[in-house]
Amino acid sequence: MHPPSPHPVPVPSVGPGAASTTIELLREAMADADFTHDVVSSRLDVPSIVAIGTKSLEELMARTASGTRLDTLIRLLCMNAPYTAGTLDAILGTGLCAAIRAMGLVRDGPSGERSTVCINPVRGLWIASDIPRAGETRASDFVMGIGSSTLTLESLTARRSVGRVLDLGTGCGFHALLASSHAERVIGTDINERAIAMARLNAALNAKPDIEWRIGSFFEPVSGQLFDLIVSNPPFVISPEQDHVYRSAGMSGDGVTEHVVRGAAGLLARGGVAQFLCNWAHMRGFDWRDRLATWVEGSECDMLVLRSETLDARDYAEYWVGHTREESSEPLAARAARWRASYEEQGIEAASIGMILLHRPIDRDQTWTSFDDAPRKMLGGAGHDVLRRIDAETWLASVRNEELLDAHLRVASAVRLDHTLRPDERGWAMEQASARLLRGLAYETTIDEAGARILMRSDGSTALRSIVAEIASGLGRPLSEVAPVAVGIVRAMIRRGYLDRSSDHKV
Ligand SMILES: C[S@@+](CC[C@H](N)C(=O)[O-])C[C@H]1O[C@@H](n2cnc3c(N)ncnc32)[C@H](O)[C@@H]1O
Repeated sequence: MHPPSPHPVPVPSVGPGAASTTIELLREAMADADFTHDVVSSRLDVPSIVAIGTKSLEELMARTASGTRLDTLIRLLCMNAPYTAGTLDAILGTGLCAAIRAMGLVRDGPSGERSTVCINPVRGLWIASDIPRAGETRASDFVMGIGSSTLTLESLTARRSVGRVLDLGTGCGFHALLASSHAERVIGTDINERAIAMARLNAALNAKPDIEWRIGSFFEPVSGQLFDLIVSNPPFVISPEQDHVYRSAGMSGDGVTEHVVRGAAGLLARGGVAQFLCNWAHMRGFDWRDRLATWVEGSECDMLVLRSETLDARDYAEYWVGHTREESSEPLAARAARWRASYEEQGIEAASIGMILLHRPIDRDQTWTSFDDAPRKMLGGAGHDVLRRIDAETWLASVRNEELLDAHLRVASAVRLDHTLRPDERGWAMEQASARLLRGLAYETTIDEAGARILMRSDGSTALRSIVAEIASGLGRPLSEVAPVAVGIVRAMIRRGYLDRSSDHKV
């Protein structure tokens, strides 16, 4: 096994002067050709440009054979297809071709001219990143493009107008670019110089000149500064290998996740939110929740953890070894066995993926921690739901059951209740019911008849106590027996966004 080497081809340059005219020409060409997410993904018949790898090269080539500017840009920039110089000039124009050659975006090679990075249209941006080539060993400083973890974090990001944002481990700069539309000041940091060069290229491609890019490890480039929003999709994979900076920061176990959580807790301004899409280990002999809670002990921050999935150590090793097969020439089975042995040695039994959120309250000393499963799916942006959840958790942490019974709750308009009825001797009885949300954190939960009744009767004008009393009387049980169970159900419903106490969100 040889350690991987750095990328041999520099990131296209975006210096001032001539290069910025080049970027302008390229941007115009992409805009004129309708090189947008929806058009390109419909042309390629993929739900998202991120899924381009699910199609065979033959199919992609067949779908982009028209010879138009759009298909040429798709082939050149998304598929890294080679072109003869004459063909590119004839379709894209000699001015643009000369410019993109001069900046190093297109280079001549044995099979023709190819782009040196891929550029994908995603979330209204053009995002350049390194080209993931099947069967080729990945460079140590490879800059990843938009992956599923990137998009999950993007959907969860609390997008409200704020002062200062930090995108830690910015990679190609995606989160920083998006944040610049709702923040006064955005800083993107990365230890990888190639990543920062890529982020600068993307800032230029998307005409976002005001973002600050800083090279350095974790919080070093921003020490002593406070932020209203910190987002990070850090190099979280738990592995014994440290050769690829996009995936590893040289810390054992889930040290990276712990490091960013502890570090961010000290850099949040009052009212600020930090969000990480990350993995954490389940250590032998410890409840993972207790362990994560210690990471914010002594800080002034609330912690919300939404767990998407847990894999035991064997499945985790197999998944990641398969997913990163381009990183190593070692046979997959041997590599997976080595990873498993390292987990065993460290006492790692399983690993979870999910979002860890920190929130520094504006004006209270008592903090809360909350652990829940993430919904199976998200529908559209869930940032608003994340902010609502902070508000709900804050309320639930302080409200006593008796007070909650006096509350007037309202069912969220995005709730849909599905139920199946069956005839019985008294008429119709509920056989099963589930409540689902149509937006954001789109939870779907099986509920019983009492839960369904609470949702149906929560119109904002009836106190919860009356609703629970009706349920108790229907069941022929005393209120004192039914109320504690009902309140437990209601707390979960408020938490997950089925019920609201009001429509305004004060975080
Ligand atoms: C999983 S990638 C995420 C990239 C991008 N933010 C995204 O969401 O797609 C992790 C990023 O962290 C960077 N990184 C690795 N070690 C780091 C460190 N010690 N300090 C700062 N960034 C680091 C990598 O270079 C890489 O860009």
